[in-house]
Amino acid sequence: MKVAGSVRVPGDKSITHRLLLLAALARGTSHVGGALTSLDARSTARVLRQLGAELSPLRPGTTVSVRGKGRFRRPHGPLFCGNSGTTTRLLLGLLSAHRFAATLTGDRSLRRRPMRRVTVPLAAMGARFTEQQGDGLPLTVRGQHLRPLRYELPVSSAQIKSAILLAGMAGEVEVALREPNGRSRDHTERLLRAFGYAVTEKDGWIHFAPGGRLEPFDVQVPGDPSSAAFLVGAAVMAQTGELRIAGVGVNPTRTGFLAVLGRMGGSVELENPSTHFGEPVADLIVRPSPLRGTEVTAGEIPGLIDEIPLLAVLASRGSGTTTFRDVGELRVKESDRLGLIAENLRSVGAQAEVVGDDLVVEGSDRAPQGKVRTAADHRLAMAFAVLGTVPGARIRVDDMACAAVSFPGFPASLRGIAARGGK
Ligand code: S3P
Repeated sequence: MKVAGSVRVPGDKSITHRLLLLAALARGTSHVGGALTSLDARSTARVLRQLGAELSPLRPGTTVSVRGKGRFRRPHGPLFCGNSGTTTRLLLGLLSAHRFAATLTGDRSLRRRPMRRVTVPLAAMGARFTEQQGDGLPLTVRGQHLRPLRYELPVSSAQIKSAILLAGMAGEVEVALREPNGRSRDHTERLLRAFGYAVTEKDGWIHFAPGGRLEPFDVQVPGDPSSAAFLVGAAVMAQTGELRIAGVGVNPTRTGFLAVLGRMGGSVELENPSTHFGEPVADLIVRPSPLRGTEVTAGEIPGLIDEIPLLAVLASRGSGTTTFRDVGELRVKESDRLGLIAENLRSVGAQAEVVGDDLVVEGSDRAPQGKVRTAADHRLAMAFAVLGTVPGARIRVDDMACAAVSFPGFPASLRGIAARGGK
């Protein structure tokens, strides 16, 4: 394949969720340009409407307007969060400070994902929870008057961290948090600072203090680096050409995959840097290059957690071995991503295995051929579709439609980077 052109990717999923949630809690009308319109973003919009906010429809290319009422109102019926862990966990934080009962549920994948990781610290702040199925959904939260919290997270996770910070904001209490192994994405901290809250860091502890104020806002969401990563991966594995992906968020807590790709020999340059609402943005310039294996350390994992399926696929095309240390968290993503990355790499003829909590992938230049089982996990579908672009590949992904969870139009975008007439 030859790559060419300048493309854009849909808006950042993490930032879109957070902006919609905050806009729905501000009093007045906010405008969110470039918002992601994927199924996950729609899940957030849907539950926010149930909680009393007015949101315009999420359509690609339009600005979303959100009219918040300053508080959420008691919802009629359960809040269906679809496939979205971020919607569920961040909302549990906000609802912990609202004095009514709300029941959250989701699709099959979401119902099996652990929720005690957020309900334990939120309960320590005073919120009450009733489980229906043990550690998962459906789950009922009854918000209360909250107490301050000082808490060490069991795993580095932006969803746990954000749930607690947002509870602190909505409940107007101080919180202090520490992540055990590496920094997870810090979009919530940046946004809270933009609204005048004191979010400071000292000796590995993140401190939040009330005192800011949510006001309606007007912002543009940067392109999602986690979506861009799939096009970067396809372009790096191409034979010739150059691809520009314009306007991508390059927050350092999200770009760990670029550092790892660099060690693997991949060439990505950043151009046209700017900052939007506290978030760094740039164009990514990608050129094809041969890849080699590397070791991805445990401390690097939070900064590239969503890019491991893609990096594993790239590792299967490099020379030598790539080891991802301590990636047990992948077992509780939209699927058992850890097991499925290894299983699917093997079923297309590559060598990969899970050793304890590590993932070990061997590189090869044999054409990958075989069937891929995604368990409806969007990132697995997209990673293996990218592998399907290498010469001689014959890969059948069982469900490509699930890519719309985070990247609407992904198949067309992937086709779109191939230069016309290029091989
Ligand atoms: C996200 C945090 C990550 C990530 C998810 C989005 C967020 O999850 O995998 O896609 O927006 O906060 P964890 O915090 O559970 O690792």
